Amino acid sequence: MAILRSFLAIICIVLVAATSMKPTSAKLNTHYYTKGCPQALPAIRKAVERAIKHEPRMGASLVRLHFHDCFVNGCDGSVLLDDTSNFTGEKTALPNVNSIRGLNVVDDIKKAVDKACKKSMVSCADILAVAARDSVSILGGPTYKVQLGRRDARTASVNDANRNLPPPFFNFPQLLSNFEAHGLNLKDLVVLSAAHTLGLARCTTFRARIYNDTNIDPKFAALAKKNCPTSGGDDNTRPLDATSKRFDTVYFEALLKSKGLLHSDQELFKGNGSDSDKLVQRYSKNSAAFGKDFANSMIKMGNIKPLTGNEGEVRLDCRKIN
Ligand code: HEM
Ligand SMILES: *[C@@H]1O[C@H](CO)[C@@H](O)[C@H](O)[C@H]1NC(C)=O
Ligand SMILES: *[C@@H]1O[C@H](CO)[C@@H](O)[C@H](O)[C@H]1NC(C)=O
Ligand SMILES: *[C@@H]1O[C@H](CO)[C@@H](O)[C@H](O)[C@H]1NC(C)=O
Repeated sequence: MAILRSFLAIICIVLVAATSMKPTSAKLNTHYYTKGCPQALPAIRKAVERAIKHEPRMGASLVRLHFHDCFVNGCDGSVLLDDTSNFTGEKTALPNVNSIRGLNVVDDIKKAVDKACKKSMVSCADILAVAARDSVSILGGPTYKVQLGRRDARTASVNDANRNLPPPFFNFPQLLSNFEAHGLNLKDLVVLSAAHTLGLARCTTFRARIYNDTNIDPKFAALAKKNCPTSGGDDNTRPLDATSKRFDTVYFEALLKSKGLLHSDQELFKGNGSDSDKLVQRYSKNSAAFGKDFANSMIKMGNIKPLTGNEGEVRLDCRKIN
């Protein structure tokens, strides 16, 4: 009897442990809205196309929003929440303040998709994942099937954003361990950093690099200094690569020539034959491999700790909890 009882107790413990260990990605799928709202994804695509037509940089800004969402407690739309009396949100964190863009466009997309579905059923976290995919594809990059079914967080944390988002002054080991802490590897770090094939950076984020780094092309540095003085002009912008409206391999070609704009970009290529160097070299001359690996790493990033099932909620307004 005692043996039977302890046997049953062990079974119970195993069952409880098994059901509370939630897999981080298994519950998302690519056809989540197919039945309930087949118009959802086309509606998002249309709204993203409109926004990019109006301002090509918006594609970059939307890709970055998905990254900043996923790296802070998972892809749960937390980056979109305004501050409340209960929490200070992520928008005022150092990597986000004065920097993240596209919040109004996300509002427009949410309105468009809710109208297409005749109700609020697509989460803000999924909107970010789809908008990032569509932006990449519209600007000349690869396309891929987005995993869907994320739900939206009911809270956000400025401290978690400051702790989790990598700053541009990180060196290679710091960048790698940041990515590894999010379940990503060296290859993910190199391909996803190449999202910097799109968009702009502010002077304040690359000033230390152009004035103090030694592994930088002197002409490239001199040119960048013209619009980024040692003091003042913090918000003056510069393209992250020479073709910042086009998703291409020019980012990698620049790294080979010591023309990475951010310190963190150039950390990926030192020219000493490291594994990171080898990836940069490979992608610089193989845009098909880059496109394929970028798509896979985006899917992997999009799978970081989503809320699923009954967790969280589907927000009515991406800026606040229901
Ligand atoms: C590896 C570590 C990374 C660091 C240190 C980093 C840092 C930065 C910084 C400092 C900026 C300029 C922000 C500003 O001046 O306001 C920027 C822009 C950008 N980042 Fe990253 N980033 C990293 C990885 C990523 C990843 C993984 C993605 C997406 C997959 C991404 C996408 C972008 C895009 C698209 C822009 C341009 C945004 C725009 O023009 O609005 N970054 N990043
Ligand atoms: C703050 O949290 C309390 C308790 O959970 C909740 O009742 C209230 O609505 C929240 N306030 C805001 C502004 O979200
Ligand atoms: C360059 O390095 C020096 C010495 O560490 C420091 O005082 C200076 O502020 C740095 N300049 C920039 C633009 O970061
Ligand atoms: C390349 O240089 C970095 C430091 O700049 C070092 O950490 C790394 O071990 C070097 N790799 C090789 C293969 O020499």
